[in-house]
Amino acid sequence: MLIAFEGIDGSGKTTLSKELYKFLIRRGIKAVWTCEPYEKKIRELILSEDQSPWVETLLFLSDRGIHVRKFVKPHLQRGYTVITDRFYLSTLAYQGFGRGLELKILEELNNKVTEGLKPDITFLIDLPIEVALERLEKRGNSKSKFEKEEFLKRVRKGFLKLAEENKNIVILQGNGNIYSLMGQILKHLYLFLQKKL
Ligand code: TYD
Repeated sequence: MLIAFEGIDGSGKTTLSKELYKFLIRRGIKAVWTCEPYEKKIRELILSEDQSPWVETLLFLSDRGIHVRKFVKPHLQRGYTVITDRFYLSTLAYQGFGRGLELKILEELNNKVTEGLKPDITFLIDLPIEVALERLEKRGNSKSKFEKEEFLKRVRKGFLKLAEENKNIVILQGNGNIYSLMGQILKHLYLFLQKKL
């Protein structure tokens, strides 16, 4: 089973996805946690240099292709639950809605690199931009090119629009407390598994 966590920078998806991973491990369920960008070298290339929107996109997509082949698929085949912090929805939201690139092309290219692999369920952690930016400021990292207010506003809207159109995407309010959020995540997973069995 492939579970993706998505959301804008500072939304809390990394904390929640790791929390879910720990929960499953404690219960003896075979699980792995992973994230995108996956390859350090590609991440650096994207974040440290000013790439054109399409070059940026192709780098993210190449990274995803490598991630899927090298890590995600082999683990799924061995019966692991794979939890990924970001997946294809990030490309649609950031490069599609954020950078204004054509969604249809992004989707087609994404399907090529993932060989059609889609998450079974995606948790979109939604948060007002102001709260997310405040959190990022507290973390004290220098701002990346993806963390500008106007840009993130478009990305957030994009995520929400994409989620409305897809029943496998669950929207969660990221400013609740972590226990309540974990409770909601587990409830949705339970409902999902019930439908499958
Ligand atoms: P990173 O510092 O790893 O951020 P985070 O911990 O918030 O995930 O950098 C990833 C950045 O790359 C993040 O700002 C979102 C962006 N991104 C895209 O624009 N498109 C994509 O397809 C992916 C996977 C990430």
